Amino acid sequence: MTEVASVLFGREDIRRRVDELGRTIAGDYVGREPVLITVLKGGAVFLADLMRATPLSLEPHFMAISRYGDAEESLGRVQILLDTDVDLAGRDVILVEDIVDTGLTLRYLLGVLLARDPASLEVCTLLDKAVRRIVPLTPRYVGFDCPDRFVVGYGLDFQERYRNLPDILKVDDLEALKDDPGALSPRFASA
Ligand code: IMP
Repeated sequence: MTEVASVLFGREDIRRRVDELGRTIAGDYVGREPVLITVLKGGAVFLADLMRATPLSLEPHFMAISRYGDAEESLGRVQILLDTDVDLAGRDVILVEDIVDTGLTLRYLLGVLLARDPASLEVCTLLDKAVRRIVPLTPRYVGFDCPDRFVVGYGLDFQERYRNLPDILKVDDLEALKDDPGALSPRFASA
């Protein structure tokens, strides 16, 4: 019998990669104080680890958005539910994302942030599902290339569940998870 999901990136691999990203960012931004903007809720876990792995003075800020249906249906139209109050004019901004999939959401957010005249704007995503890209965007910093599978854990959810799993799981049987959204709950026991 196929398991509903299996580990794609374990917590140790994630920790090592996030540490590498943090050191790379610190090297690239030496002498500057970047603003790290994260989109709630998915990016919160990544941001919490990334900022502690980045030996540099930086400011974390948050935004929250809601999508109309899924990204493709909505063509990336999103509504800003929570905006950051930081003045981005002249600042070095890094948008921290959990995953870039079609790129539609990212294109919208980059447009919003660019209109605020930052000195620079880059994207750091933990996962890059490049095979699904509709909008040709290449994030400057990528944790892992992600296969064309639905993934959960380490901030990523299925119907608001599983954000607090320490590993990233790929869902091998999405229909089974749709039928029983709690099917992966036993994973918490081994987490
Ligand atoms: P995009 O606009 O298609 O790039 O969608 C990006 C957003 O879709 C991400 O920030 C996630 O919230 C969500 N998303 C895309 N793929 C996955 C996945 O495999 N698991 C969980 N959420 C996903």
